[in-house]
Amino acid sequence: MCQKKVLLIVFVSFLVPFCSSIDTISFNQTLKDGDLLISSGKSFALGFFGNSPGKRYIGIWYNNVPELTVVWVANRDNPVNGTSGILTIDSTGNLVIRLDAERKTAAWRTNVSSARKRADSYTAKLEDSGNFVLFQDSKMDVIEWQSFDYPTNTLLPSMKYGIDKRTGLNRFLTSWKSLIDPGTGEYRYTMELNGTPQVFLYKNSSRIWRTGSWTGHGWSGVPEMSPRFIFSLSYVDNDTEVSLTYGIHDSSIISRMVLNESGIVNRLTWQESERKWVQFWSAPKDPCDNYEHCGAFSNCNLLNLAEFECSCLPGYEPKLSRQWFLRDGSHGCLRKKNEEVCNSGEGFVTLSHVKIPDTGAARMNKSMGLKDCEELCLKNCSCTAYASANISAGGSGCITWYGELIDIKQFTDGAQDLYIRVSASDLAQFSKISRGHNRKRMIGILVGSAAAIILALSLACCLVINIRGNDNERSESLASYDGMEESKHAEITIFDLTTITNATDQFSDANKLGEGGFGSVYKGHLTDGQVIAVKRLSVTSGQGTEEFKNEVTVIARLQHRNLVRLLGCCVQRGEKMLVYEYMPNKSLDSFIFDLLFTNFQTVI
Ligand SMILES: *[C@@H]1O[C@H](CO)[C@@H](O)[C@H](O)[C@H]1NC(C)=O
Ligand SMILES: *[C@@H]1O[C@H](CO)[C@@H](O)[C@H](O)[C@H]1NC(C)=O
Ligand SMILES: *[C@@H]1O[C@H](CO)[C@@H](O)[C@H](O)[C@H]1NC(C)=O
Ligand SMILES: *[C@@H]1O[C@H](CO)[C@@H](O)[C@H](O)[C@H]1NC(C)=O
Ligand SMILES: *[C@@H]1O[C@H](CO)[C@@H](O)[C@H](O)[C@H]1NC(C)=O
Ligand SMILES: *[C@@H]1O[C@H](CO)[C@@H](O)[C@H](O)[C@H]1NC(C)=O
Ligand SMILES: *[C@@H]1O[C@H](CO)[C@@H](O)[C@H](O)[C@H]1NC(C)=O
Ligand SMILES: *[C@@H]1O[C@H](CO)[C@@H](O)[C@H](O)[C@H]1NC(C)=O
Ligand SMILES: *[C@@H]1O[C@H](CO)[C@@H](O)[C@H](O)[C@H]1NC(C)=O
Repeated sequence: MCQKKVLLIVFVSFLVPFCSSIDTISFNQTLKDGDLLISSGKSFALGFFGNSPGKRYIGIWYNNVPELTVVWVANRDNPVNGTSGILTIDSTGNLVIRLDAERKTAAWRTNVSSARKRADSYTAKLEDSGNFVLFQDSKMDVIEWQSFDYPTNTLLPSMKYGIDKRTGLNRFLTSWKSLIDPGTGEYRYTMELNGTPQVFLYKNSSRIWRTGSWTGHGWSGVPEMSPRFIFSLSYVDNDTEVSLTYGIHDSSIISRMVLNESGIVNRLTWQESERKWVQFWSAPKDPCDNYEHCGAFSNCNLLNLAEFECSCLPGYEPKLSRQWFLRDGSHGCLRKKNEEVCNSGEGFVTLSHVKIPDTGAARMNKSMGLKDCEELCLKNCSCTAYASANISAGGSGCITWYGELIDIKQFTDGAQDLYIRVSASDLAQFSKISRGHNRKRMIGILVGSAAAIILALSLACCLVINIRGNDNERSESLASYDGMEESKHAEITIFDLTTITNATDQFSDANKLGEGGFGSVYKGHLTDGQVIAVKRLSVTSGQGTEEFKNEVTVIARLQHRNLVRLLGCCVQRGEKMLVYEYMPNKSLDSFIFDLLFTNFQTVI
């Protein structure tokens, strides 16, 4: 049979690694159950899979990850019963899955081309990005259809999600039904364009989480998004499309974003040393992520664990005070009674570091400045709040809300400012409170930092991980690193914090190499002669402990590629430090700066 010649069988690809594999299928060729297409760089494989013989699916999975990890499924809701299914290009030029070679019954079809064109020139290729592309011509210039436009539950690097305004194509993720059933599940992660673009996670038809709108750096509700050292983000919002694409700087990192069966959006990276997928980031995480958790006109804040997470916005009070008292915030808040609406002397109270409310019914003007934005909002009595549309480069654009403010979440850092309209009397009251607050906070900070220094010095509990072992051991120990938990593989040496303060001469200015948005870098000398560079993250760097650990894990994994070697880290309440090997070489100095200043900035 001619197919045998063209197509490679799964076992052959393992037994004969140097045999050139096939990544294309042309008109009149068929791919049978058991045959595989392997992309040219051997990253992905395409073929039939399925746990039971009664349910076979055409899918794409990682070719070099031992655990079968399917990233795309063609006939997810219409499996082939038995192993007689074939994939082929039919006489209309469409990719089609047939129940068997004889019958014409299709389990799935691409529905794109028609016999108008010469079907016999149609060619489909599995590209090394994991994209399965149907070309009109055998030279493979004109794309007719591609699997990247019809994602299932996985977003791969270089794959777009979002909306093409010309064709109406919406690329979104849908969960599998279960771990073994790739059928369309009940969760959907999809972009919507009303007001300003936002991504929503749905369970059936109800919203369960919202990313917030794009701030210029990242999603308003995801201030902890991954360090750009590893991932790049490309957001497009123009007349033809709104889309987001994740890229990856180092092609040796295998990473995917998946919407799993329990409705969690996970970013996972493959750790070769542990031979497993490691979670890098996930959402939703906490009650404040639940869409509308606190109803309208309220803020959700988990930081004060002893208290109710919901609080009414300035100028508002609980709609149902009994329920509110019983800690059911879902009914939200209302403007206070007897409150003069739209009178002279009204103004705005600033909420800092929040995920701004649902923009579905808001208005955006990309060119307007913040001052004009305030005026615009003040002029219209139904305007309840405003915010900057793009916080990068000092801020630009204007978002105004008319009516309910829904789904605000408080962060400690990052995110953005929201300006809430209040009456003259509230304005006076809140500015008094916040001044009092500031004074109290100032005292608090002074007392707190003195206490922290004393505590830090006396506890001397700085953990520095000794990573002079081999690469594998290193990333293993870092991957399982956690202040509380001791890894069995870890070669952890516990140093005094004084080691680092002594090495850097109490972080003296003379030893300061530079400063950036994340904090400062110091040069230091350990007593054994080792010269180090310490990146001391400022408390306001916006990077959470979880993201910090992830960053360390991934950097450790990249060790061999980097000129600047990471020696270890130090985590304490509020303080996070990375310790690098210092290289005296001038050009390397600037490399350190590049690395530290441009690449490690987190998306805030
Ligand atoms: C495709 O197969 C049909 C039937 O076997 C044959 O008549 C036709 O010539 C083939 N076309 C090409 C382009 O190979
Ligand atoms: C598949 O076909 C076999 C034999 O015709 C039948 O017994 C079985 O129920 C079918 N399975 C499914 C899942 O349809
Ligand atoms: C192709 O069209 C048929 C009929 O309209 C539809 O049932 C099927 O889901 C479509 N297939 C794809 C892959 O869009
Ligand atoms: C979601 O839809 C599925 C299928 O329509 C149904 O079985 C399930 O009960 C629904 N879940 C909820 C929470 O409504
Ligand atoms: C946000 O502002 C920056 C700086 O002006 C600009 O480069 C970027 O394109 C803007 N982003 C959006 C989404 O408008
Ligand atoms: C929108 O952005 C995309 C991707 O950068 C580009 O291909 C397209 O031409 C742009 N459209 C307009 C109208 O600028
Ligand atoms: C989905 O991801 C979350 C977070 O990683 C995990 O706790 C949960 O078990 C996953 N669900 C399934 C069905 O794998
Ligand atoms: C946006 O604001 C600018 C400057 O104030 C104004 O000229 C423009 O008409 C506004 N655009 C829209 C769509 O309102
Ligand atoms: C205020 O804004 C709303 C919503 O944009 C609009 O319908 C209304 O006409 C505006 N009112 C005035 C007085 O401009």
